[in-house]
Amino acid sequence: MGALDAGPGRTVLIGRRDECRLLRELLDAVRADDSRSLNLLGERGMGKTALLEYAAGAARDVRVERTSGVESEMGLAFATLHQLCAQMLDRVERLPEPQGRALATAFGLISGSARDHFLVGLAVLGLLAETAADRPLLCVIDDVQWIDEASAHTLAFVARRVSAEPLGFLFAARQLRAELHGLPTLRLGGLDDHARASAAAVGRRQPAGRGGARSGDRRDAREPLVVAGSAGRRGHDGARGTARGRGGAPADRSH
Ligand SMILES: Nc1ncnc2c1ncn2[C@@H]1O[C@H](COP(=O)(O)OP(=O)(O)OP(=O)(O)O)[C@@H](O)[C@H]1O
Ligand SMILES: [Mg+2]
Repeated sequence: MGALDAGPGRTVLIGRRDECRLLRELLDAVRADDSRSLNLLGERGMGKTALLEYAAGAARDVRVERTSGVESEMGLAFATLHQLCAQMLDRVERLPEPQGRALATAFGLISGSARDHFLVGLAVLGLLAETAADRPLLCVIDDVQWIDEASAHTLAFVARRVSAEPLGFLFAARQLRAELHGLPTLRLGGLDDHARASAAAVGRRQPAGRGGARSGDRRDAREPLVVAGSAGRRGHDGARGTARGRGGAPADRSH
């Protein structure tokens, strides 16, 4: 069976062994001041959010800040970024004044209409790096296909510029966002039959198989994402891809 041990006392994800290993490696790199980004791509129901949940669960000592795109908010500039930074805004005053002002303006904390996106990008970079200096930080951004354009540009800017910091970015999207082009990418294939059978056997809703999401599937993408029990069992799984680390060409092993 393709169950994967998610750690003591934790629930278990079926299959995806290689993907989970990659996520643990990303976390290890972040802990070691080696900034990393990964862009998970996959059709609806392929298990992207499940893998983000896995990463968040495996983070332990790494602080996790999360946000996700919301289709109805795509037209609201900086909406997704605001959600990501919400718990860190007390640090804005530590930024260089022009950056702090640009960010505060973008988030509507002070008045002003001119939005200098470059300064906002620098401000977010500073804010995240400053936060990560206290404790390694993983930014998890789901449903990237729905994040507003200003947030997408800013997050891509920041993800490209971080280097030797305990800071990581994990994106998940149904399709590649142009802004994120060039970041290390992992394209998810469907779970294989063994892993799907495992999921069925433990009575949870199943992720899409090789053929992708089924039309008419009314599954709630935000329901609990992992399968309880079966910790430590080993066997065949549906993991297919790997991604190269930072600085390498995007690893896109689509099948
Ligand atoms: N490896 C897995 N083992 C067991 N269940 C899984 C696995 N991957 C996904 N699932 C389950 O399959 C369903 C779809 O997964 P998920 O919501 O993660 O897909 P998604 O790729 O995020 O889809 P969307 O594009 O709609 O957001 C969920 O019920 C999830 O719990
Ligand atoms: Mg999802």
